[in-house]
Amino acid sequence: MTTHPTTAIILGTGLGNLAKEITEATFIPYKDIPNFPVSTVEGHSGQLIFGKLGNKDIMAMEGRFHYYEGYTMQEVTFPIRIMYELGIKTLFVSNAAGGVNPAFNIGDLMIITDQINALPENPLRGKNYPTGPRFVDMHEAYSRALIEQAKNIAKEKGIKVQEGVYLATQGPTYETPAEYSMYHTWGADAVGMSTVPEVIVAHHCGIKCFGISVITDLGIKGKIVEVSHEEVQKAANAVQPLMADIMREMINRA
Ligand code: HPA
Repeated sequence: MTTHPTTAIILGTGLGNLAKEITEATFIPYKDIPNFPVSTVEGHSGQLIFGKLGNKDIMAMEGRFHYYEGYTMQEVTFPIRIMYELGIKTLFVSNAAGGVNPAFNIGDLMIITDQINALPENPLRGKNYPTGPRFVDMHEAYSRALIEQAKNIAKEKGIKVQEGVYLATQGPTYETPAEYSMYHTWGADAVGMSTVPEVIVAHHCGIKCFGISVITDLGIKGKIVEVSHEEVQKAANAVQPLMADIMREMINRA
């Protein structure tokens, strides 16, 4: 078993299959970790995986917690606190999102360059932990160096990528056309229901962050159609290999 990974990955939508590539793996079910939130949905209990991806020691989260499920922000971000305590220095995340940038199409991959917290709460509200200051600078929540590296990797591999700002809402509703339009006006390129809380806490802990969204539906005037969880999954599965390709190489070079 690897004991000291410095790289962690949250296997969100689009990266589920990467779990199968982890070798020399040790699995720790969330329910066996003291104070770890436990999913109430049967069959979605989740686990931490420690092992190797390529030559790299990694820690992976299979299953994440969303605010809409009823967890507190502290619960949603508890795994990040554990990552910090274990010495993680770089965090890779993925998610599914609705595109609100008119240049986007379903199936696009978007490198996250920045984020907007449209959740009703900030995960750092309350007692400040000495991992970072009370008032946190957020001018580079996503590492510019990692963004540049991802763009280079995508170019080398001939994978088309978009770049943009990810905005998180509390969900679980997808957006009304008026909401999509408002979020675009606010400066968002894609809208989802995760990632932002984890990145805020990771950033407070001095962990470098990198994220990719897969655009699974469009909140763009004239292109808005009914969206369902199944269609989101279907669109994400279709580009999963490309997302995994970029992430695998990012982790390799981390
Ligand atoms: N909105 C919010 N979350 C999402 C969407 C969306 O359109 N698509 C996938 N996750």
